[in-house]
Amino acid sequence: HYLGIDIGTSGTKTLLIQADGKIVAEATAEYPFAQPRPGWTEQDPELWWNATVKTVNEVMAASKVKPADVKAIGLSGQMHGSVFLDKKSNVIRPALLWNDQRTAAECDEITSAAGGRKSLIKMVANPALTGFQAPKILWLRNNEKKNFGKLAKVLLPKDEIRRRLTGDFVTEVSDASGTLLLDVVKRRWSKKLLTKLDLDSDLLPRVVESDEVTGTLTSEAAKLLGLTTDCKVVGGAGDCAAGAVGNGVVKQGVLSTSIGTSGVMFVHSDEPQYDAAGRLHTFCHAVNGKWHMMGVNLTSGGALQWWVDSIVKGLAGIDNDKRYEAATAEAEAVSAGSDGMLFLPYLNGERTPHADPNARGSFVGMNLTHTRGHMTRSVMEGITFALRDSLEIIQSLDVPVRQIRASGGGSKNPFWRQMQADVFGKKITRLEVEQGPAFGVALLAAVGDGAYKSIESACSATIKIAEETKSDRKAVASYNKLFPIYRELYEQLKGPMS
Ligand code: XUL
Repeated sequence: HYLGIDIGTSGTKTLLIQADGKIVAEATAEYPFAQPRPGWTEQDPELWWNATVKTVNEVMAASKVKPADVKAIGLSGQMHGSVFLDKKSNVIRPALLWNDQRTAAECDEITSAAGGRKSLIKMVANPALTGFQAPKILWLRNNEKKNFGKLAKVLLPKDEIRRRLTGDFVTEVSDASGTLLLDVVKRRWSKKLLTKLDLDSDLLPRVVESDEVTGTLTSEAAKLLGLTTDCKVVGGAGDCAAGAVGNGVVKQGVLSTSIGTSGVMFVHSDEPQYDAAGRLHTFCHAVNGKWHMMGVNLTSGGALQWWVDSIVKGLAGIDNDKRYEAATAEAEAVSAGSDGMLFLPYLNGERTPHADPNARGSFVGMNLTHTRGHMTRSVMEGITFALRDSLEIIQSLDVPVRQIRASGGGSKNPFWRQMQADVFGKKITRLEVEQGPAFGVALLAAVGDGAYKSIESACSATIKIAEETKSDRKAVASYNKLFPIYRELYEQLKGPMS
């Protein structure tokens, strides 16, 4: 048996699987994140650890699998966050998260230290973006000198959990790619950029491939989790690459969309291809020796959550326990294109394609005939248009796109799958059982333990497609007309928004 643990932003999910991919038990534990100022997001790593201990104990109790039968653990988690540790491995301050937007000045500092954007992209395959980890380290140096003075190690969220499980400071290539300090092409830390930023390479953990075993449980961790000290921990992956593995996106031509808090469009690549304009991320894949490109929308399903929970909730005619179903049913009754109403989902800045921490959300084009259902629909359409922005860039780079696989909250609702098929103008597939990042890293654990010879063979043995959604010609035509207007709105509004 194998465990997959995904340290998410809103909660931790743990899955226990058999080697054949069958899910034996699962558990989740939720926690909040802090927003000490607008645009700042932080979390105490202790929340992740408590959720890990709780969910592992729950799946073990529910499954009755013997502790010695759990051979390996795979770790996944929210990417880019910074866990700052002192010499004694105490957490210095709450971790800054992937959607934190405080580091615009540090991004400029990195770009100029690297000799400009082009030369930075050459070193680490990506431009400096506010969410990435390197600008967070510089932010600490520039703004909290005392804390920076204590700094001995910086870890990504899931790698902090690894440290507590095995005592080792290790990361793996997919998550390390999102620090901005990895030479993504060579799959090792960029000494060159570290020197230019005057950062000591000892601050960083060792980097391995995602299916490599990084250690075994300490006796204290084994006791807390109800497992044995023979249980291995493999590299695992950042949640985007882990989710892609869980969706079987491990070969050329397969692309996935994921609508969770953030939105991700992810495509496998056999070569380290990158967008010269730096609009897409080029990161190492969790597939040994392969890469991927992806576009990330900072507020995706999070925009629907905002809309339903802060506006629709509590209104007449809405059953609060079924508020999402009620809101989306109203949206479904409205025709494609929301009769001209458009929504920009940039509620907390945007990454792809604008890289603009000051971008903001807006409804545009309202008239007296519009209803609440129009507003909900235009929120969902805006989220889906934001994903199309990434698809357009991927296609402009001649990356083959044969199949789009939908995942996350946006794949569960048939109405939203149809909307994706219509906005992208492509057939959408969905998996029989979708388990996301925790499943992907449980499979990496199986590979690390020797149950499969590669992650590709683990995926083809365990992952099956359940259904296909074809696009509707009329709706595709409406969306093709609206999309350029959606694109133009950001250009027109960015001045007043900032
Ligand atoms: C990826 C990203 C987000 C987080 C969410 O670049 O920032 O998808 O990983 O957990």
